[in-house]
Amino acid sequence: MAESPDPRLAAVRALNRVLPGQGDGASLREVLRRGVPDGSAGGLTRDLCFGVCRYLRPLNQWLNDQLDKPIKAKAQPVRLALLCGLYELWFTERPQHAVVNAYPELCRRLKAGWASGLTNAVLRKASRLDAATAFADYPPAVAASLPDWLWRQFQEDWPEQADDMARASLTPPPFTLRVNRQRHSREQALAALGEGARPGELAPWSLYLTPPRPVAALPGFDTGAFSVQDEAAQLPAERLAVPPGGRVLDACAAPGGKTGQILEAFPDARVVALDRVAERLERVRETLARLGVSAEPRVGDAAEPSDWWDGEPFDAILLDAPCSATGILRRQPDVKWHRRRADLPPLVDLQARMLDALWPLLRPGGRLVYATCSVLREENDRQVAAFLARTPDAADLTERPPAAPAVAAGWQLLPREDGPDGFYLACLRKHEAPAPDEQKGDR
Ligand SMILES: C[S@@+](CC[C@H](N)C(=O)[O-])C[C@H]1O[C@@H](n2cnc3c(N)ncnc32)[C@H](O)[C@@H]1O
Repeated sequence: MAESPDPRLAAVRALNRVLPGQGDGASLREVLRRGVPDGSAGGLTRDLCFGVCRYLRPLNQWLNDQLDKPIKAKAQPVRLALLCGLYELWFTERPQHAVVNAYPELCRRLKAGWASGLTNAVLRKASRLDAATAFADYPPAVAASLPDWLWRQFQEDWPEQADDMARASLTPPPFTLRVNRQRHSREQALAALGEGARPGELAPWSLYLTPPRPVAALPGFDTGAFSVQDEAAQLPAERLAVPPGGRVLDACAAPGGKTGQILEAFPDARVVALDRVAERLERVRETLARLGVSAEPRVGDAAEPSDWWDGEPFDAILLDAPCSATGILRRQPDVKWHRRRADLPPLVDLQARMLDALWPLLRPGGRLVYATCSVLREENDRQVAAFLARTPDAADLTERPPAAPAVAAGWQLLPREDGPDGFYLACLRKHEAPAPDEQKGDR
């Protein structure tokens, strides 16, 4: 009989691939998509992987403080097993004795029997503490589990909000759905989901479900009645204002979450779904098939329309640009350990080139909605303010709630516990072409 998969062993193997050290820098989501045990064992593997990535910095610091000599680089799996154990003890409700006993055995399975005694001693000591006590004297960037550069950037961009942002980035995200308006009203959907469902406050088709449920347990999920999508991420598509039968460009479409939403909101729109990566467009096709809608897929670089544009203008453009993903660290906590400060200038440059290249494709009177899942101002309001300054026929139409942070353009959402992700959007309108009489004007 095949050996039953050990969820903790699976977590150590996944983390070993994802985290800096011996791994190949693969993204946590990609690694977890394959090679995770089924059912509740898979749930434990995922929890350990996400938890260790979220709290990596203070867990590592505490572990290092306990060691007389550092763990060798080639024994990285032992370090990861210890970090999983610390996370389980301090951030989960699992019985302490079961956690303490599981890891020495795991070391043996990792063929590192030499580490069983060390593991036992470290976890026993940790079981007499809690995280707040263990991390109490750590510098803010360590306690917030952020790389120094990102903590500094949070403080520079958001001096008053940085602490709350860091805290919200450590908590597991809420489970948020988008109701398919072609299938039911939000009230009907809330009634169908029953206890634990509540409407979102910002996006008209959003709802939160606590505790989360497997998507297979959502009524009609397979046939498109719901989609999993953060509330903030639902805001841009609602602002496209597509005229009947209008042509829409979804410029960075994969995996197609917002393409599907555009077609729910504007069912007769003709949508071109563009992405630079052909394989990722296959994900768009799957997303749309579940919703029972279709778009015209196109592989191409949004910054180089001459390679793929057929010359027919668009009534609306969604530019959901590649970005630092610093607004969704709670969903993709491994991003903190992969990103470098040096990655930002090329990203900011690409976003600017995309804005400039796509603007001429928009019909006068049309809207371009620019969006990122970043909280860094150079990718967001400063990016858009610079675009507005160099683009005379563009105006910022973005409506934002009075309590939103003051920014130079658009609407910045900062991550909120039990609320939306960190996200940015700007709704930009192209001036109507002047009438011929006006053109002659006041000469
Ligand atoms: C933030 S994701 C888009 C998410 C998507 N809009 C959704 O809601 O599901 C960014 C996407 O941009 C694509 N991308 C990156 N650079 C691009 C470029 N130069 N041109 C077009 N797409 C690009 C990536 O392949 C990725 O799929």
